[in-house]
Amino acid sequence: MSDPIPRATARENAALAATFYAPSLLRGTIASIPAAHTLTTRLGTLGRAQRVLARLRERYGEAVLTRGPAGHTLLVLGRDGVRRVLEAPTDLYTLASKEKVAGLGPFLEGTLLLSSGSDREARRAFVTDVLSQLEPRFAEVAREEAAALVPGVLTYARLNDAWNRVARRCIYGDGARDAVELSRLLAALRGAGNWMGLRQARQRELSARYDALIAAHLRRAEPGSLAGLTAGLAPRPPVCPVRQAAFWLMGFTVPPPGLMQALALLAGRPAVPGGDDPRAVLLEGLRLWAPVPALMRTLTEDTTWEGAPLAAGTSVLIPLVLHQRDPSLPYADRFTPAIWQDGTAEREWLLGPFSRGDGRCKGMELALHTGSAFLGELMARAAIRGPWLPDPLPLMLDTPRLRLTLEER
Ligand code: HEM
Repeated sequence: MSDPIPRATARENAALAATFYAPSLLRGTIASIPAAHTLTTRLGTLGRAQRVLARLRERYGEAVLTRGPAGHTLLVLGRDGVRRVLEAPTDLYTLASKEKVAGLGPFLEGTLLLSSGSDREARRAFVTDVLSQLEPRFAEVAREEAAALVPGVLTYARLNDAWNRVARRCIYGDGARDAVELSRLLAALRGAGNWMGLRQARQRELSARYDALIAAHLRRAEPGSLAGLTAGLAPRPPVCPVRQAAFWLMGFTVPPPGLMQALALLAGRPAVPGGDDPRAVLLEGLRLWAPVPALMRTLTEDTTWEGAPLAAGTSVLIPLVLHQRDPSLPYADRFTPAIWQDGTAEREWLLGPFSRGDGRCKGMELALHTGSAFLGELMARAAIRGPWLPDPLPLMLDTPRLRLTLEER
């Protein structure tokens, strides 16, 4: 047996808590809290966290045991460590981490994300079947909703409302276009999911209303929507279509920050290779300021890490938001959409806005398909004006407060 996994010292744990773990909790682990976003951006917490991480990597290599919000946490520091975790079976490094079960369990129990064993297999087959069928209608819907934003001032709230219409129409059909109550309930459910499950009773109450609304929309089984595809597959237990459809609406809450950031990158910037490809630009928006800041796992059984024992129950955390801006990457702080076109990003394990391996996002193609249709429509219709983002790009961006102008071409 080789040496035990290194442990961070009390001082290092305190530095991590101050620069990374506490600010992440404050910003919201399940739903982003705009005021905390502004505060931590002003304080530049991530810049300090990046320096702490660099020191830890220099001292300990690929990973170190730290004290995280969910207890003992293996903090993954380098690309080999990232690869080891993401290539491992998801039944060993479960996606249903302590943080997710605490924050999402009351309304997402029964979904793929929170499943293991044979349940996970059955649910994965169903989810993959539904989400891999990219109805041509999805891109049309995205273009239609985007077109209505031009000309005009684009605040984050305005973009988010338009995108939520795209989400509801793709998932439940045009009959849900104006069902804003669904999106409001989801926002409340996610908000109550912050703080490591302290508001689970509130979530259960909201979840009953949310599920009832979703079940009604699924019954309409509108053709050309995910609900229509679901009905065609006639899912059986352990697949739980209502809960899964509840999750899909949550999946659709991730693109808006990526879209807003992509637009801000384009505002007034000289042309760069790949800058005319909406898919590559969206992926850069997701890399530079990652809306899913960390990949979290929990170890289900005792195992080993480079030959050293690692105990069941340990949390594992990959700080995507820092790795995607790792100073060793030549394009770390530059808008470089071409890396998503020439295979550079695909080969780099430090990058992965949609994660990788068995736990990779099952909605990735759907999100990129609809997201790039939405962004492409805005790029074609409008000259985008907004605050100038300096080069090198800042590590933190106050996305909810961005304000852009879309001038008709
Ligand atoms: C820009 C948009 C999106 C991003 C960046 C994103 C990112 C991610 C990430 C990082 C994970 C893995 C979490 C982990 O390892 O802990 C994940 C999981 C997942 N996402 Fe997405 N997501 C997006 C949109 C969507 C959409 C639109 C859907 C569905 C409609 C979706 C469905 C899923 C599912 C089902 C999983 C669970 C995968 C599993 O358990 O194997 N996502 N997503």
